[in-house]
Amino acid sequence: MSMENKKNLGCNIFNWIEESLNPTNCTSEDFIYNEMESQSGNSLPIIYQPFDGRKISHWIDRGLLYDFLYSTEGENKKLLDFGPGDGWPSLIVAPYAKEVIGIDSSTRRIEVCSENAKRLRITNVKFKNYVVGSKIPFEDNSFDGVMAASSVEQTPNPKETLKELYRVLKPEGRLRIHYEALGRYRNGGERDLWIADLNEKSCKLILFNRNIEDEYVIQYGLTFAMSKEELMGRLSANEGVSFNQITIPLLQELKSKITKAQVLKTVHPSAKTIISWLKEIGFKEVIPSHSGSSVAFKLFNQYDNSERPKDLHSIDEVIKNVVKVAVQLKAPIEIDPMITAIK
Ligand SMILES: C[S@@+](CC[C@H](N)C(=O)[O-])C[C@H]1O[C@@H](n2cnc3c(N)ncnc32)[C@H](O)[C@@H]1O
Repeated sequence: MSMENKKNLGCNIFNWIEESLNPTNCTSEDFIYNEMESQSGNSLPIIYQPFDGRKISHWIDRGLLYDFLYSTEGENKKLLDFGPGDGWPSLIVAPYAKEVIGIDSSTRRIEVCSENAKRLRITNVKFKNYVVGSKIPFEDNSFDGVMAASSVEQTPNPKETLKELYRVLKPEGRLRIHYEALGRYRNGGERDLWIADLNEKSCKLILFNRNIEDEYVIQYGLTFAMSKEELMGRLSANEGVSFNQITIPLLQELKSKITKAQVLKTVHPSAKTIISWLKEIGFKEVIPSHSGSSVAFKLFNQYDNSERPKDLHSIDEVIKNVVKVAVQLKAPIEIDPMITAIK
């Protein structure tokens, strides 16, 4: 099928959902974050899984911990974690900071973060809910550093959110931001899907319509009164399912099982857009730089399996000093790197 036909097919499905299911407009917390028990699928090292030095994802987690810690100059300081999800990175950074406060507009996420902190016996971290669209509930100049991991682009107005993060930072304070820019979805990822497992009796089919040039995403969420396995079975997709398998006849057949239809529009700025906003907001220096995740990835691959350090302490010793340097080195904005902004 030609690319143009595939695009049209996608549009037909989106039109069908609009016309037949009349989806409710909502914010990201109502769309997904209030519904999921674990936003990370219980995959986070230390928070949910015992640390395993044989896994590259666990090295990357350490790389990102030191990234947020060093790029905010957050050792023994007071940090804000904006949109912590399951408590990440708050809970892994907290042992090195004076205090971490995580704020999230999803009540469910705050409950989960607080339960995780209690289970892990981390006492210098607090999580606080606030109402989406309202001011961040802190005075001006409250924090030495701010961490924002994949969260600013989930808010209704990312530029306003960045203004708020600027306001609560102390002068000379540093914001470190990780974000999902859309460049990576070019050539095939524009239309995409994900099935979220809500509980044994329901799941959510999310269809993504990404507009890379205009930097926004429209997501349609269809909640089904059936488990994820059952829906996968109906889609005859035990091995995974692709966007092209979702057809209008199939959705018509399953319509009686759809209990909720929602639509969410989110803005996903590129590095170029974020940098221009940060400068306009007033940050005196904005540095797109290399990340702790790429450092950890490269270091992991430098070792033969038999020689690679395995325990947490040795891995930290290998990773942290390299990350400390890497986060200060400018990275090309074309790769949408992580960004540090200094007030
Ligand atoms: C993709 S998750 C990232 C979670 C975590 N930082 C991580 O990287 O694993 C996005 C988070 O942003 C939160 N969020 C969405 N809109 C928000 C808003 N307006 N204010 C604060 N947090 C928000 C969500 O509830 C969710 O916890």
